[in-house]
Amino acid sequence: MILGTQFGDEAKGKITDFLASDAQYVVRTGGGPNAGHTIHLPEGVVVLHQLACGVLRHGVVGVSGPGMVLQLERLEEELQELSDRHLLKGEVMLSERAHVILPIHEIEDAWEDDLRGRESPGHQLGTTRRGIGPAYADRYARFGIRMADLIRPALLAERLDVLYSTKSHLTGLPTKTALCETLTGIGSRLSPYIRATEPILWEALARGETILLEGAQSALLDIDFGTYPFVTSHHPTSAGALLGSGLPPQEVGDVIGVTKAYATRVGVGPFPTEVSGEVAAYLQREGGERGATTGRMRRCGWLDLVLLRYATRLNGFTSLALTKVDVLGGLEQIPVCVEYRTPAGETLKDYPPAVADELEKVTPVYRNQEAWPPFTSRLKEKIRREGHHALPAQLRSFAAFLEREVSVPVAYISYGSAREETLSVGRVGPARPASRIHKWGG
Ligand code: IMP
Repeated sequence: MILGTQFGDEAKGKITDFLASDAQYVVRTGGGPNAGHTIHLPEGVVVLHQLACGVLRHGVVGVSGPGMVLQLERLEEELQELSDRHLLKGEVMLSERAHVILPIHEIEDAWEDDLRGRESPGHQLGTTRRGIGPAYADRYARFGIRMADLIRPALLAERLDVLYSTKSHLTGLPTKTALCETLTGIGSRLSPYIRATEPILWEALARGETILLEGAQSALLDIDFGTYPFVTSHHPTSAGALLGSGLPPQEVGDVIGVTKAYATRVGVGPFPTEVSGEVAAYLQREGGERGATTGRMRRCGWLDLVLLRYATRLNGFTSLALTKVDVLGGLEQIPVCVEYRTPAGETLKDYPPAVADELEKVTPVYRNQEAWPPFTSRLKEKIRREGHHALPAQLRSFAAFLEREVSVPVAYISYGSAREETLSVGRVGPARPASRIHKWGG
């Protein structure tokens, strides 16, 4: 499993793409076109929204799994773009159990977020307006349309009748007949890809093949464990990755938590280590911190170990991937938040308040770390030749500091956007829950 530890945008796509060279399947387990997984290939930059990054590699199957919600026009565009650029090298599978995001849901997403804003400006979420929340709401209310329905026109028409009867508060919807026709057309074009994906994955496991579960969004955006209500609508945590793929827990080898060396957040919601002014502008500029889906500037801040320890306990990370370290090269020092002080004088180390407003009010306590020199092309070349031994000493100390503070080994370091600028630092073992490492002092 490759999962986000912060608020999304940790470069999960890049780490998944790196590991996909040794995998047979890559499965996206939740979310939909709210995600944007950016991958820098020798042929150019690709942003995947609804396809798993396995589709970019020969011999790999990219599965858009049962936990997802799929917007079909955008999905067809994504397929077309990859095919036009000759980048569709792997196989595509779409789960028959994934739900469909309809135009209704996109209209409803905007309608709902505007409504929140009108009722109380502080409660607008700043969603991606891609229909994610309403599509999951209909999924759980059992009004949803699934991929399997697309290739069963009579059933689809009946399901649309029921769904439309719940949407009288919305205007500007396409007629049911027009929508049914569009969906049936898309269904027949996508039918070669629509599959019962769970048995395919179970059989792959029985043959000893490797499956990567590619998380989208992140722990702090989890519908239950994130900064509610400023969250997305599924479970981007390890439990959600199982539900979103149909795989059983005992098959999981590694649970890799991807963390940037600093932090970012898009949209509204608490962000204790957020910075402003020149520092924020520096991180935005150097890190290219603009949303891959919506183009919004990302809010920037420092690495927050309270949230990282929380995400670790929640997900059971067995290793960490530390990304975008090059962005911090050349700074004077790197502040890292090691604990919070609450207004009542309490110290919090690994469990943030459940109420967003209370998380807004904590004061982060920072411990400055020595920064490393800039990642010049000469340094990058040296790392490519000599591996992790060539990493700057300050960065090695930073990784060791993280390991001590979070009790999880740093197994990967990404130091640039190119595919080859990721290092495996050889610390991934068999699954070792963080609590066990801690107890045994390992
Ligand atoms: P939704 O997922 O579109 O409903 O948006 C809910 C919140 O999650 C908003 O604050 C979004 O900005 C945020 N969000 C959703 N997907 C992503 C992502 O892939 N990266 C970062 N933030 C995201």
